[in-house]
Amino acid sequence: MPAYLDHNASTPVDPRVLEAMLPYLSGPYGNPSSLHRYGRLARDAVERARGQVATLVGAQPGELIWTSGGTEANNLALKGVCQGGRAGRLLYGASEHPAVMEAAESLRAAGWPVEVIAVDAQGRIAESAFRQQLRAGPVRLASLMRANNETGVIHELAPWVSAIHAAGGWLHVDATQAAGKLPLDFAGLGADLLTVSSHKIYGPKGVGALVVRSEVELQPLLHGGAQEKGMRGGTENLPAIVGFGAAAELALQELETRMAHQQDLRERLDAGLRAIPSVRLFGDGAPRLSNTTQFSLEGWDGEALLMHLDRLGYAVSSGSACASGSGEPSHVLLAMGVDAMVAKGAVRVSLGKDSQAAEVDGLLRALSQLSGRTA
Ligand SMILES: Cc1ncc(COP(=O)(O)O)c(C=O)c1O
Repeated sequence: MPAYLDHNASTPVDPRVLEAMLPYLSGPYGNPSSLHRYGRLARDAVERARGQVATLVGAQPGELIWTSGGTEANNLALKGVCQGGRAGRLLYGASEHPAVMEAAESLRAAGWPVEVIAVDAQGRIAESAFRQQLRAGPVRLASLMRANNETGVIHELAPWVSAIHAAGGWLHVDATQAAGKLPLDFAGLGADLLTVSSHKIYGPKGVGALVVRSEVELQPLLHGGAQEKGMRGGTENLPAIVGFGAAAELALQELETRMAHQQDLRERLDAGLRAIPSVRLFGDGAPRLSNTTQFSLEGWDGEALLMHLDRLGYAVSSGSACASGSGEPSHVLLAMGVDAMVAKGAVRVSLGKDSQAAEVDGLLRALSQLSGRTA
């Protein structure tokens, strides 16, 4: 199998997480809503995990709603808030993940006032434009990611919280890529909603959470039982939730070690890439996640380069995994003003906690071989 350098798309399940999950696949099978002992065992496990995930993001356990992942959490945040009452515009960042962008655009199609917050050439929030937007009238919700999945560019959100609140809006933070890679402090930041997903932090796929401050008026997307205080009906995915909790606890314990390890490797990667004349790095002038680099190699289409690298033994991504196969240039790079032809050539490397220097060196050798050649 090729060296796996696509951790922003998904991470392997940590063996310690699997160990925590296994008893819940073969053992306590009660429904967490049942009152008998089987149910109580399951409920205890769900609540333990709730505490573990809440601690990772600096929130209270009672503020957390389980979802099927980051996509559902983002949809719940945007649709749940906009459909919850008060008027006001929905603002979202131009480089947001499709799980925010498409949710917002579906609200626009249904008649909601929606505006895009521009980013600058480095992928940072375009400050003066955003300030003007906030002054232009009431805001219902501003949705901004903490860190970008493609470029790794980190958004500084703290300076915006009071301005968003002054405009009457709530702040939703998509922290799907930031969790486990940056310290998160939901309470300290003063954010109102925050999204996290398990499979980006070495937990199982198909489980995530939306953190919601109690003051936020939220409408559920899924109506059904009274689970999650009526905000998300449906029997909880017990083994996945237990795995998410275990992954969150490990992510917090090992945050500094993982960040330092990835940062070393990424600097090695970036230095090697800069030495290849036909490489262009994106978002290089902004603070970036310790594990992520997006670049293009002149003369190459991103997907052709990806397939070549796959054959040579390196699994990377072209733009966002969700957009792969679409042949469309990355909307993130287009929002940063990158030419569409250059943007089509983008490839993303996302390192993980167990990535090795030898993998980075091998990838750099492969890229050096391919530079100067065309697909
Ligand atoms: C920034 C961001 N938000 C949301 C998502 C969607 O998360 P999930 O795959 O858990 O639905 C992703 C997944 O790549 C992401 O990177």
